[in-house]
Amino acid sequence: MTLQPKGFVDEMRMVSMKLHTREQAREGEKEVKGPEERSVSKWNPTVDGYLRFLVESKSVYDALEGIVDKPDFPYYAELRNTGLERSEQLGKDLEWFKGQGYGIPGPSGPGVNYACYLQELSEKDSPAFMCHYYNYYFAHTAGGRMIGKKVAGKILNNKVLEFYKWDGDLKQILQNLRDKINKITLGWTREEKNHCLEETERSFKYSGDILRLILSPA
Ligand code: HEM
Repeated sequence: MTLQPKGFVDEMRMVSMKLHTREQAREGEKEVKGPEERSVSKWNPTVDGYLRFLVESKSVYDALEGIVDKPDFPYYAELRNTGLERSEQLGKDLEWFKGQGYGIPGPSGPGVNYACYLQELSEKDSPAFMCHYYNYYFAHTAGGRMIGKKVAGKILNNKVLEFYKWDGDLKQILQNLRDKINKITLGWTREEKNHCLEETERSFKYSGDILRLILSPA
């Protein structure tokens, strides 16, 4: 039997898992500081806060999806149409909330901030950009889904938003993206890989600022 060599995604995952708190994930090692780092079952979400979270998240997905679609970055073309795109789904969800009579806040907070940072990184520092790309999409399919379920149970009558629905087999979609990232990073030097991994903490910081909105007061 030949052992499959481990790809770079395994390294990215290992660094990310350690940056979770024990309350967030079993493999987590970080101490709880912010309210979003507590177990999701202890959260007291508000609809207004959740809407703010969805709006800011859409700014980030708009940026990520715009960046990989730009023909002047052929380097990112492999990351197009992965099946994990969320911008359109979030647009539909925001329309649904509007139909329910909620006012949709404008994007002006941490998502816009993050989107600007991602735009800059994508042009200047692709290993660091890849770190954010990986973490943002994978986080949503892991902890993000858990959050969606718990929050819907608490404040949305268990309504499943489009944000949490994928076309096809999510496991396979994720594996295809892992394979792609492993292929893209195969030619990277150790320095580029380390630089990418070092960006993980910043990716948690930006995402944490957006997640925390779910818990903001009405
Ligand atoms: C309340 C916040 C969060 C919770 C409750 C949470 C929870 C989890 C859990 C339970 C897993 C393990 C899934 C498994 O068993 O493989 C996981 C995986 C992961 N999380 Fe989080 N997480 C949170 C926030 C974040 C943030 C902010 C990031 C980074 C921006 C992140 C990135 C990841 C990544 C990359 C994985 C690996 C996914 C995979 O291998 O498929 N998570 N998370």
